[in-house]
Amino acid sequence: MIELLFKINLDIKIIMKKYHLILSLYFICYAFPLFALLLQQKQTQKSIFDETYLKHLKLKNRIFRAAIGDIFMKNGKITEEGFKLYNDLSKNEVGTIFTGAAAISDYDHYGEFKIFRIDKDEFIPEFKKLVDMVHKNGANFMMQINHIGIKAMNKEGPIYAPSSLPIDGQNRNSKEMTKEDIIRIENYFAEAALRAKKAGFDGVEIHAAHHYLISEFLSPLYNKRTDEYGGNDEKRARFLIEIIKKVREKVGKEYIVGMKINTEDGDVNGITEEGFFKACLMAEEAGIDFIQLSGIKLLSIKNKGIIYKDIGVKLAEKFNIPIIVTGGVRSVDEMNEVLNNSKIQYFGLARPLMIENDLIKKWKEGKTKKAKCVSCNSCIVPNKDYATCIFNRKKPNIKMLEPAEFKTIQMGEYKISYIPDGKGYTIPSLAYLGSTDDDWKKKKQYLN
Ligand SMILES: Cc1cc2nc3c(=O)[nH]c(=O)nc-3n(C[C@H](O)[C@H](O)[C@H](O)COP(=O)(O)O)c2cc1C
Ligand code: SF4
Repeated sequence: MIELLFKINLDIKIIMKKYHLILSLYFICYAFPLFALLLQQKQTQKSIFDETYLKHLKLKNRIFRAAIGDIFMKNGKITEEGFKLYNDLSKNEVGTIFTGAAAISDYDHYGEFKIFRIDKDEFIPEFKKLVDMVHKNGANFMMQINHIGIKAMNKEGPIYAPSSLPIDGQNRNSKEMTKEDIIRIENYFAEAALRAKKAGFDGVEIHAAHHYLISEFLSPLYNKRTDEYGGNDEKRARFLIEIIKKVREKVGKEYIVGMKINTEDGDVNGITEEGFFKACLMAEEAGIDFIQLSGIKLLSIKNKGIIYKDIGVKLAEKFNIPIIVTGGVRSVDEMNEVLNNSKIQYFGLARPLMIENDLIKKWKEGKTKKAKCVSCNSCIVPNKDYATCIFNRKKPNIKMLEPAEFKTIQMGEYKISYIPDGKGYTIPSLAYLGSTDDDWKKKKQYLN
C-alpha cells in the first residue's frame, strides 16, 4: 500500500515536471485571465450601497428619501413628531433625505397644514437643530423649497399663477403674475435657499413639479402668457432658469442645488416630453447639480415598478449631472438592474419609507424583500391622516384600499383623467377631491 502511494506520488511528480511548462502556460493564458475577469466584473458591478460623491458631498448609498410634505411646524417651532420622523429616517441608513416642500413665502396660502416654512430668518435656528440631529445620525439632509402657486388655500389676498385661471372652489381667478411678482418670488427662492444653507442643510432642491408654481409656468395648460415667460418651451422655462441662477448667486458655486421636475403632468395639454427635455437642458446649463424625476402617474395604483425608468434612462444618457428616479421604486433587484444597465445613479423613495422607516437598513442587512407599500395613495388624501400610512393607523380604514383607478372623460379637445369618488387626488390639479363626471362638466370653463 505504501509502495503504491509512493508510486502515485512519483508519477504525479513526473507528470508535473513533464507538463510543468504546459500547465503554467494554461494558467497564464486561460485560467488566470478568466479569474481576473470574473473578479473585475464583480468589482465593477454597481450596487445601491456604493459610496459616491455628489460634488464634494459623500453619499453613503444611492438612496434618497423623496420629499413628503411636513406638517410639523407650530408657532415657528418644529414639533416632536417632526424630530422623531427625521431621527428615525436618518438612523436607519437612508443616505440622503429631502425635507417636504418648505414654504418660501405666502405661508398662509397653505391653510391648516402646518408645513415647514423657510420664509424668515427666525426659522434658521430651529432647522439647525434638526439638521445637526440628522448629520449626527450619519445622513445627508437637503431642503426642498417651493411656491404653491394656484394650489394656494387662502380665501383672501391674491393667488399667484402664470395666468389668470379660475380657482377651484372659489368664485374668482388667480392673479396673472406681473414682472414685479415674478422678480419678487424668484428672490424669495434665493433668500430661502440661503437660509437653508445657513441652517446647515447640504443642499436645496427647487420644487418644479406637481402643479405648483414653477411647474405651472412650464405647462402650456396653465401658462397662457405672451411675454418672455410664455409662448414656447424655452420661454416657459425662463422662470425656472432665473430662479436657479438667483439661487446659485446667493449660495455660491460649491453649494448643492438640484431640482425636481415633472416628466409628465397628467394633463393632455400640459408639459410635453420635448418641453421637459428643454427645461432640463436649460437647467443643466444654468448650473443645476441634479435632477429628480417625478410626475403625476404615481397616483395610479396600476403602476408596476419604477415609473419613470424609460424616460430616466433617456435623460441620463444625454446629461452629465446625476438623475434621481423617484416613483414606484420598491425592489433592490430592479434598482440594481437599472443601475447596471443605464446611467441612472440614484433612486428616490417616499411612500415606502412612510410605512417602513427601517427599509434601507433591512436591505443593507441582506433582507431584500420588496417594500411593503402597495401604492394605494390613502396617505396622500389631505385629511387628518395625511402622510400617515394606512397600515400604521390605529383604525385602518381598509375601504380606502380598494383600487382607485383613473377615469377618463373627453371634454371638447381635452381628455381629462381623474380618480373618482374622493379616493385620491384628481388630475389636473385644477380639480378637487371627489370629482365626478358632473363636477368635471361644471368645470369645463377652466379649460378654455
Ligand atoms: C403624503 C405625500 C406627500 C408628498 N409631499 C411631497 C412634497 O412635499 N414635495 C414633493 O416633491 N413630493 C412630495 N410627494 C411625492 C413624493 O416625493 C414622491 O415623488 C412620490 O410619492 C413618488 O414616490 P414613491 O412611489 O416612492 O412614493 C409626496 C408624496 C406623498 C405620498
Ligand atoms: S397608505 Fe398606501 S400608499 Fe401610503 S405608504 Fe401606506 S401602503 Fe403606501
